[in-house]
Amino acid sequence: MAKVKTHYSCQSCGYNSHKWLGRCPGCETWSSFVEETETPSNEEGSTVSDVRNAFRTTREGVLAASGVQWVDLQPDKKGAISESQEQKRLQTGIQELDRVLGGGLIPDSFTLLGGDPGIGKSTLLLQMAGGLCRAHPDIKVFYVSGEESIDQIRGRAQRLGVEGKGRVFLAAETHLEKAFTSIKELKPDVVIMDSLQTFSSGFVPSAPGSVTQVREVAARLMALAKSAGIAVWLVGHVTKEGNIAGPKTIEHMVDTVLYFEGESGQSYRLLRTVKNRFGSSRELGVFEMDGEGLREVTNPSSLFLSDRKSPVSGTAVAATLEGSRPLLVELQALVTPSGLAMPRRTSVGLEASRVSLLAAILEKHMKLNLAAQDLFFNVSGGMRLADPACDLAAAAAIWSSFKEQALPLHWMWMGELGLTGEVRRVSQPDLRIEEARRLGFKTIILPQNTPSVILERFSNLAQLKIKCISRIDELSELLI
Ligand code: TYD
Ligand code: MG
Repeated sequence: MAKVKTHYSCQSCGYNSHKWLGRCPGCETWSSFVEETETPSNEEGSTVSDVRNAFRTTREGVLAASGVQWVDLQPDKKGAISESQEQKRLQTGIQELDRVLGGGLIPDSFTLLGGDPGIGKSTLLLQMAGGLCRAHPDIKVFYVSGEESIDQIRGRAQRLGVEGKGRVFLAAETHLEKAFTSIKELKPDVVIMDSLQTFSSGFVPSAPGSVTQVREVAARLMALAKSAGIAVWLVGHVTKEGNIAGPKTIEHMVDTVLYFEGESGQSYRLLRTVKNRFGSSRELGVFEMDGEGLREVTNPSSLFLSDRKSPVSGTAVAATLEGSRPLLVELQALVTPSGLAMPRRTSVGLEASRVSLLAAILEKHMKLNLAAQDLFFNVSGGMRLADPACDLAAAAAIWSSFKEQALPLHWMWMGELGLTGEVRRVSQPDLRIEEARRLGFKTIILPQNTPSVILERFSNLAQLKIKCISRIDELSELLI
């Protein structure tokens, strides 16, 4: 019998070593190495081929049985490629989900949905199963759960109003090859595997959730998606525990990576595209979780703007762009005298280092004495901002709190701040202005060097006032 080879694998990043290490050289995590048996061969397990062969008779576009199929970049004659992937996209019946997928679900794609446990991944995919059935009369969905019993899923589907008699099939199974046998029989168009960390393939002896097992499961599901033309969804829990590998370890293998996020104590959920081979990788979908599952939020700016009736000091509204989607968010600053030798700089929603940088720019170029002040910063609604176009609004909020001077209620600020105090242009200002206008904002503060076509387009509108700023020290003049 062949000798079984083993190695040690970091459960956090997948770094391999022939001996046990206390600290991983790859990701610097402590005590994350676990002994794993090496995969005997890279041969494709027979079950994947079985499924592929079962599909060969019923579907087009499968790979050749031996060798690699190759084609010319340009088809020989017009129409040789009958349908582009764009045309084959399936609408999921959930617009916010279609948006993050780049316009719908590609039939032979492999999608990873990551997120913290309990955030709503299973709920979203169950609702998607219902949506797909509603939108397409001949589609079959197979939901394989390694976490919940069939009764639990049925109960939830009933509560969510998901209907799919004869179209949505459920199985509670953790053995991957057994699930493949069912897929072969059912021939579904969409398969949902929930979740990555619970499945195990018989071709690998490692425990479920280990890096080797997680990679093997992902590789087999990828082969399934591509060879049988099934849209495969894989749920992956983000976990901080060292003994369970997270979705990060397989991100490179899949076509699309979506992350579902939300703040504890808040009911809204953000679905972000992190990677997408079929569309933009920076899209955002917004949902709200209530007693009847996830509801799409079609006007997300309203979530992030607080209900202010009169102007108060320390707040300014910015427009952030998430993919192609503009969102208005309210930024809040509180500047108070500090009794500490090292004044506090606390920030929620914007990187603390960015807030310190903005404070330093205000000190230098507007002569604000912030060195003896505590500075607390918050993005309302719990949104996390990474768009530099929000710099100007953040600086304006800090200035407003320090001066105890309220900024007008219906002003929206956009601009990136340079270390020398200049206000730089932002990407796609037109989308941001349109969103502000839609929500009733009356004055837009723009960087001076915004393209003139944009300035001309919006300056002639009666309900909208455009003010330009080239340096941060002009801020107080704007208010006169
Ligand atoms: P779930 O989809 O099971 O999360 P995940 O698959 O990411 O682990 O969602 C579980 C949470 O969602 C649970 O805390 C209850 C809540 N929830 C609702 O608030 N309303 C609902 O209608 C449903 C189905 C779940
Ligand atoms: Mg779940």
